[in-house]
Amino acid sequence: MEEQLHAAVAAILRQYDHRRGNLLPVLQAVQARLGYLPPEAMEQIASAFGVPPVDVYSVATFYAQFRLKPPGRHQFKVCLGTACHLMGGHTVLDCFERRLGIKEGETTPDREFGLERVACVGCCALAPVVVVDGRVEGRVSPTRVDGLLLSFSLEKSRRETPATPTNGGGGSPYGA
Ligand code: FES
Repeated sequence: MEEQLHAAVAAILRQYDHRRGNLLPVLQAVQARLGYLPPEAMEQIASAFGVPPVDVYSVATFYAQFRLKPPGRHQFKVCLGTACHLMGGHTVLDCFERRLGIKEGETTPDREFGLERVACVGCCALAPVVVVDGRVEGRVSPTRVDGLLLSFSLEKSRRETPATPTNGGGGSPYGA
């Protein structure tokens, strides 16, 4: 796994001059490839650019676009812009946190779900809004949170369990 990561980053590094101005596009390309910026990748980039690792960490942590932890297979982005905040966005976020057992910015240990808070996504009339894997869900209630988690948990069960007529299924590990 570590070798694959190293090879993937090396392939991206070969596409760029190692001028400081290219640090940002390299980080973007690595994140697009890996889904996030692992510490090993940032150290490899620092070494290629001939800069201290702290310089790369500084850029990665300065820009909100960069993710330092692996994303979940399904990513929930809870909007806490003004309209969504007024319409109960915090309740929705709390609900996700309790159901998933993680805080915003974290991913479940099985890497199935990731949770983030975001600013206005431009659909205020639908507040409170959650962006689920890039799709906007409007007027989200705690019941809707349960429904979303249940549908994804069922999908996961189907993925992991060979289809047999005797499969009794099972409850969601996320309490939905
Ligand atoms: S404040 Fe949430 S979509 Fe605008």
